[in-house]
Formats: sequence, structure tokens, C-alpha cells
Amino acid sequence: MKKQEIVLTGDRPTGPLHIGHYVGSLLNRVSLQDIYKQYVMIADVQALTDNSANPAKVRENVMEVALDYLAVGIDPAKTTIFIQSMIPEIAEITMFYLNLVTVNRLLRNPTVKTEIQQKGFGESVPAGFLMYPVSQAADITIFKGTIIPVGEDQLPVIEQTNEIIRSFNRTYQTDVFPEAKALIPKVSRLVGLDGQAKMSKSLNNAIFLGDDEDTLKKRIMSMYTDPGHLHVSDPGKVEGNVVFVYLDAFDTDTAKVAELKAHYQKGGLGDVVLKKYLFEVLNAMLTPIRIRRMQLAQDRGEMMRMLLAGTEKAREASSQTMQEVKKALMLNY
Ligand code: TRP
Repeated sequence: MKKQEIVLTGDRPTGPLHIGHYVGSLLNRVSLQDIYKQYVMIADVQALTDNSANPAKVRENVMEVALDYLAVGIDPAKTTIFIQSMIPEIAEITMFYLNLVTVNRLLRNPTVKTEIQQKGFGESVPAGFLMYPVSQAADITIFKGTIIPVGEDQLPVIEQTNEIIRSFNRTYQTDVFPEAKALIPKVSRLVGLDGQAKMSKSLNNAIFLGDDEDTLKKRIMSMYTDPGHLHVSDPGKVEGNVVFVYLDAFDTDTAKVAELKAHYQKGGLGDVVLKKYLFEVLNAMLTPIRIRRMQLAQDRGEMMRMLLAGTEKAREASSQTMQEVKKALMLNY
């Protein structure tokens, strides 16, 4: 028997998933699915909040993300994988929550503030984007999710979800919703190949789960190391060196990594040799994922059927919660 608590999480389908997602969330989901009832949502509606002019991009990436999920071992028999836009109750409940949230509170949400800057919205913030934490509260609560695995940057969104939950329960004198707890992974922001920022598709500094061997090699060879390490014999810096960041994150042979670090710091270990070693480690990890992904991609019809079956299952839960919500709001005509 699985434990009572419900895990709810998801991704915006704006690109295929990368190795930052792998250590940051995908591996966790593979273990959580054996312990809890788990829902994983492909958040196409949320993706449109900052991609309103690119529906084709969102549509394509729903499938890419689904392929990534199954390729890493998220199992549709254990995890309910579903498409956000096909759960109308999420949009419906969002309308009710909007009455419990002030515009000022949304403008002060640190996640939203940072993302508005990053995306360069300036004075033209789409209202749908501004209120995405409300719609995310809807995602979480419609499934009564209590364990919410998210990156550190999403903590303020979970905090706001709990404010909405408390406000709803208080205002309508009900206990429909349990509070949500964020679950932050150990490596929650893997640095990109450039060593500058978090790994992301838009910054072109990512290694994707579906990358072929040549692409993987090229990406690793382009990686930021220590700009002061000009000759093999020079002592090199480990701190901030992306190769070592990735070895720490992905190589299970910690003794070997410690040895390489000492050698690099002393001098005599070249970047190319080091990068070739990282290639071996990452390629060993990614090869089975890549093969499985390619096999799955052969039958996109079957993949879509899997998503629709997951969505149907998710809807049983969401329509059940909606009945309770309507009762609390006296809308159960
Ligand atoms: N906002 C999340 C992200 O950008 C994705 C997401 C949408 C999500 N709805 C969610 C995560 C609900 C957890 C729970 O990564």
C-alpha cells in the first residue's frame, strides 16, 4: 500500500528536458512513484502564459516532455501523467481563487517578479502570466496535493498556494484543502555549460536527455572550465569549474572525482582529458535513456493514448474535488 499523501508536480512544455531536470526532479519522481500516489502534469496552459504567440512550440513539446518522462523511468502504471489543458476544473477553480488574491500580492511574488525581469516583459506583463501562481494553486489543490516537488525558485509560489488554501478554508468555513509542502531536491539548479546561469534551453547552455553522442561530446568540449588553466602543467581551479560541478552531480565514483580534483589543482591534468572522462560518465548515464526515448518516439500514437488515459484518470479526481468546492461556494445547484 502506498502512503496517503499525494505528490503533485509538473513542467511547462517549452522544450525537451535536460540533465538539470534529471537530477533536479526526474530522478526524485522515479523514486516517489513507489511510495506515494503521484500526479505529473504537463503544464501546457502555464506554458502559454509566456508563449501565447507560440502554440506550435508548446504542442510539440508536450510530446517531447512525455518522451523524457517515460525514458527516465516514470511509469504510467505508477504515476498519473496528464495534460493540464484537458482538466477544465483547473481553469474553473482558478476563477474562484482570483477573488481571494490581491493584485498587489501577485506583483510582490518574488518568483513572478524575477521571471518578469528575465523575460523582459517591462510594462507589458500579460495578466495570465501575472496570475500564474493562482493557476498553480489550482493545479495543486484540485488534486489535493500535499507534497510538491519544485525547484527552489518556485518556493514563493507554494507559499502563495498555502495562503490561498488558508483563505479558502477560512472564508468558506471548510476543510476541503490540506496545506501543501514544497519538496526541494538536493541539486535544484544545475549550472549551464557556460558556468553563468542555470541550465536552460533558452540560454543554449543545456545538455538534453535525447542528445546523441556527437552532440553530447560537442557540448562537453564547449564547457567552461578555468580560464586561467592555459597549460596542462598549470594548476587549475576546481571551484566554479563546470566539469567538476557535473562530476559532483553525476559521477557515483566519488573517490575518483576527489582524485581528479587533487590532480587538477596540482597541475598536470588537461581539460581535454578531464572532459573525455566526463563524457564517459554522462554517456553511460544517458545511453539507456536515449535508446528508450528513441524506441518510444517510434509510436507517438501510443504515447498520446498513454497521456489521454492518464488525463482521464486525473479527471476523476479533479471532478470529485470540484463537487466539494462547489458545495463550499454554495454553487452546487
Ligand atoms: N511552475 C512550474 C515550473 O515552472 C511547473 C508547474 C506548473 C508546477 N504547475 C505546477 C510544479 C504544479 C508543481 C506543481 O517548473
